[in-house]
Amino acid sequence: MSFPQDFWWGVATSSYQIEGAVREDGRGESIWDRFSHTHGKVWNGDNGDIACDHYHRYPEDIRLMQFLGINAYRFSVAWPRILPYGKGQINSKGLDFYDRLVDCLLEADIRPCLTLYHWDLPQALQDLGGWANRDIIGWFCDYADIVSRRLGDRVGWYATFNELEVIAYRGHLQGLHAPGIQDAKIAYQVAHHLLLSHSQAVPILRENAPHASIGIVLNQNYVEAADESHEEEAILEDAIKNRWFMDPILKGEYPSEAVEHLGTILSGIDLTEAKQVAVPLDFFGLNYYMRTVMGQHPSQKLPMTQMEWEVYPDGLYYLLLRLKDYQAPPIIITENGAAYPDPPPIDGVVEDPQRVAYLEKHLDALHRAIEAGVDVRGYFVWSLLDNFEWRFGYSRRFGIFYVDFQTLQRIPKRSAYFYRDFIEKNA
Ligand code: FCB
Repeated sequence: MSFPQDFWWGVATSSYQIEGAVREDGRGESIWDRFSHTHGKVWNGDNGDIACDHYHRYPEDIRLMQFLGINAYRFSVAWPRILPYGKGQINSKGLDFYDRLVDCLLEADIRPCLTLYHWDLPQALQDLGGWANRDIIGWFCDYADIVSRRLGDRVGWYATFNELEVIAYRGHLQGLHAPGIQDAKIAYQVAHHLLLSHSQAVPILRENAPHASIGIVLNQNYVEAADESHEEEAILEDAIKNRWFMDPILKGEYPSEAVEHLGTILSGIDLTEAKQVAVPLDFFGLNYYMRTVMGQHPSQKLPMTQMEWEVYPDGLYYLLLRLKDYQAPPIIITENGAAYPDPPPIDGVVEDPQRVAYLEKHLDALHRAIEAGVDVRGYFVWSLLDNFEWRFGYSRRFGIFYVDFQTLQRIPKRSAYFYRDFIEKNA
């Protein structure tokens, strides 16, 4: 396979899932600290207090990246490290950490790719209503300003948000993620404020980092109907899950099918504000994991990962073709990967043939999309390390490096060797 010149090969992580050190150097409490320490919210009572201890072990982790031969690393900044109470007093030690991380990456010739918000909101802001409070647009813009002032063009890539859909629905409709709210009206208000926060932070990032690429990361499932009788259902599911976020960002409007369906749930939201959301972006980040088939009989399902997510590489191909129709800016696959119950390491390696097959097939689908004319500029595996997988705690391993959570030792999986060789052959 041949990939475009200067293709970005990377791995992705996020702050709460790997950093640990939750009470160190002045970090404030996040909604995930609160949520994971609330009985019954996370599998086995797991939490991110220590996680992979990346806060202390980042030099070692950057050496793992060098072993892979990647040229980009996507990480997120923990807002409560920078502003322990979400706004007001700045914690310089928090900024210092990301400063060291960025310098260390640059020394290793790895591009730092920074996501401002990957779900760890300062608890103090949640206490003021969090994303449901419209004032958060200003709080987020101030935070974006502080981070990008400090790091500026040393970071050449900023994403405002990771996965608006998960923040809004998993956190505020189903309550399965922090802050654990179950309220449809709030969920759509949150979605609206997230979109506005994104669009208002972009000009700030541009000013502080004039040479950086600025964009956002959205997750999408490829949605299909099992048969004709489920067509309408599939269109609606796609409109709610994918287009509710993509359409404002790329077209400046909410999808009308979903607006009609949601009806009074949306009352109080000025939907015409979607026009302001479609600010020009330098990239569109797509996280892809699975297909959703409406009306599907269990026997029709293709193989599934341990998350019970259906493995469907063609879905990536189809979603990329649609983004081309949307005239999206250059696309980066900002996450793709799989959890499987890995066996313990033997002789210093973990054999994970299913993950290798998953990555291989998705890279093939990606390559086909590029051949079909889709402008894809990079691919990031989720994830570098096994880590805190939100409500599943440490029971779902997504890493291409295995983490022994007793000793915190990192051990390569076969997929790490696969990815290294793939990059070497195709770069
Ligand atoms: C995505 C998240 C990421 C990780 C993967 C498995 O939805 O962005 O943090 O949990 O799923």
